[in-house]
Amino acid sequence: MPTDTVRLVSVGMWTPARVMTNAELEGMVDTTDEWIVERTGIRERRIADDDVGVVEMGYRAAQDALERARLEPSAVDAIIVSTATPDRLLPATACDIEARLATGGAVAFDVWGACSGWLYALNIARGLIASGQIETALCIASEKMSAITDWTDRATCVLFADAAGAAVVQRAEEDGRGILASYMRSDGALAELLHRRPIGSSSVPVDVAELAVRDGHLRMAGREVFKNAVRSMCEAVDAVLEQAGVAKDEIDILVPHQANIRIIEATAKYAGLPMERVWVNVDRYGNTSSATIPVALYEAREAGRIQDGSLVLMVTFGAGLTWAGTLLRW
Ligand SMILES: CC(C)(COP(=O)(O)OP(=O)(O)OC[C@H]1O[C@@H](n2cnc3c(N)ncnc32)[C@H](O)[C@@H]1OP(=O)(O)O)[C@@H](O)C(=O)NCCC(=O)NCCS
Repeated sequence: MPTDTVRLVSVGMWTPARVMTNAELEGMVDTTDEWIVERTGIRERRIADDDVGVVEMGYRAAQDALERARLEPSAVDAIIVSTATPDRLLPATACDIEARLATGGAVAFDVWGACSGWLYALNIARGLIASGQIETALCIASEKMSAITDWTDRATCVLFADAAGAAVVQRAEEDGRGILASYMRSDGALAELLHRRPIGSSSVPVDVAELAVRDGHLRMAGREVFKNAVRSMCEAVDAVLEQAGVAKDEIDILVPHQANIRIIEATAKYAGLPMERVWVNVDRYGNTSSATIPVALYEAREAGRIQDGSLVLMVTFGAGLTWAGTLLRW
């Protein structure tokens, strides 16, 4: 079947009910609400209960997306999950979500792209659909960053949080709408800027002594990540606009990765967009890794800021380092 176009049919999301404010963090580490707001733009974030994992979160977001698309799970051909915080390392989180959805055999696999993972998943789905292998994909991001956060490290614990988002992606007839351009890059030489010690992996198999050390938490060189984030998101802006032959002033809304308001503002400035044309929710959710973009997309759509025909630019960056961009006409 010829490829017409690849479209996001619906977006769903799920966030934990539990809100953790900056005031609460003031009681945990040496920080202040003022510092956090000024340096990051974050005011509060959502934290999942201990017994709620990424399979549960991703499943709920996926269900929401399927309901909005008015599709049964059996219509799904592929489940692609982005997560940096799987409940378990084997099998893929996508397989556990497949079992919950009972699709009847959709291919299910994970993408390890850190915060860029959901745009990677979207682009993989685009490729599978364009090559005629599948018709419908579920692209899910489910992240429980609170589980890998060192709650004694003020440089990271104020930033990260938990959420899940999902989109139904489908082949559609060409009418100028759909995904117009995709861009993906990485630079493994910068891996140490944002990483976890490999506890439980093949290089450091789990043993009781290692677990007792409890040093499998996320570690970050914040300032260096900041610089690379701005550079790579701006590069992604240029790349997708050039691919699609679209000018900056045609963009209706920028939906960027929500890591830090200053990074978002710098990217918006580069893209020539006033902040009124940028979806920001980092103040309410913090950095939920690859879940930030689908959650932001969901909110922007619900708020009427993304209409049918809107030109939407999404850009992201994350551990790896990885970065990506997608341009679509809704
Ligand atoms: C982490 C980040 C907010 C720090 O902001 P910054 O302006 O770069 O701050 P610096 O790292 O220069 O630190 C300034 C000071 O604040 C201190 N500080 C760090 N975290 C703090 C906190 N939560 N509360 C109070 N002070 C803090 C530092 O220790 C440092 O103190 P010093 O000058 O005595 O050494 C910022 O670098 C950032 O957002 N980086 C990108 C991180 C990111 O997006 N990661 C996710 C990638 S997907």
